[in-house]
Amino acid sequence: MSAQIIDGKRIAGEIREEIKREAESLSTKGVRPGLAVVLVGEDPASQVYVRNKAKACEELGFYSEVHRLSAETTQEELLSLIARLNAQADINGILVQLPLPKHIEEKAVIDAIAVEKDVDGFHPVSVGNLLIGDDALQPCTPSGVIELLKRTGNEPAGKHAVVIGRSNIVGKPVSILLLREHATVTICHSRTPDLPAVVRGADIVVAAVGVPKLVKGDWVKPGAVVIDVGVNRLPDGKLCGDVDYEDVAPVAGWITPVPGGVGPMTITMLMLNTLKSAKRAHG
Ligand code: GUN
Repeated sequence: MSAQIIDGKRIAGEIREEIKREAESLSTKGVRPGLAVVLVGEDPASQVYVRNKAKACEELGFYSEVHRLSAETTQEELLSLIARLNAQADINGILVQLPLPKHIEEKAVIDAIAVEKDVDGFHPVSVGNLLIGDDALQPCTPSGVIELLKRTGNEPAGKHAVVIGRSNIVGKPVSILLLREHATVTICHSRTPDLPAVVRGADIVVAAVGVPKLVKGDWVKPGAVVIDVGVNRLPDGKLCGDVDYEDVAPVAGWITPVPGGVGPMTITMLMLNTLKSAKRAHG
C-alpha cells in the first residue's frame, strides 16, 4: 500500500473558485477586495512570490498594488508607506514581503500594519487573537495546512498531531490551529530527545524545520497523515521537502508532495484573508 497523495494544487484551485464566486457576488454590491504588496530590495525569490501574488489578485478580480522599493529605502520611508496604505479605503490587505534588508527592523514594520489589514497574520495582536481563539485573520501557510487536512477528510479532532519545528511563521501557529481543531499537539524542535520515537506516536505529522528529507519511513506510524511544509533546494537545483518522500510514502496513509502540496495553499489563503478583510470592512 502506498499513501494517497494530497493534491494541494487541486485543493487550492477549488478554494480559488469559491473565492472567485464570492468576489463576483461582492462586486454586485460595489465591493472589490484590494491587496497591497510591498517589496523592498531585489531578492530574486521574493520577486517571484510578489509577482505570483499580483497574478492571483488579477485572476480573482481583486484590486492590487505592488510597491517595489529600492534596497536603500529607509525604515521611516517604509513606515510612512504603510501608514498611507492603512488609511487607504481600497486596500483591505497589506503584505510586506520578508525578509527585509538588514537596516530595517522587521518587528517595527509588522507592528505598523493595521491589524484589520494584517493578511499575513504576523501582527502581535493577530497572534494573540489566534491563541485566544478569536475569529482573526490567520497566518496563511498554517491555515492552508488545516484546509488540506479537512478537505481530505482528515479531521484533526481527537488525533495526536506532532509538529516538527517551532517558527513564528509555521510551527507555532499551526500547532495552535491544530489545538483549536481539538487535536492533541506535541511540538518538537532541535532539542527534542529521540525525535523519531515522538513522531512514531503521531496520527498527523507536520514537518516545518527546513532540513531536507529529515523524516524517514521508519519514523512514521503506518497510515499516518504526513504534511510537508519544507521547501529546500538540493545541490542539483531540485526542490525537496523535510520529508523523505520515497521512504515515507509506502508507510503513510496520506502525504503531501513537494512541490504541489502545501505550497499552492499559501497564496490561496492570502487571497481568502483579503476577501474576509474586505467583507468585514463593508459590514
Ligand atoms: N516571505 C516568505 N514567506 C512569506 C510570507 O508568508 N509572508 C511574507 N510577508 N513574507 C514571506
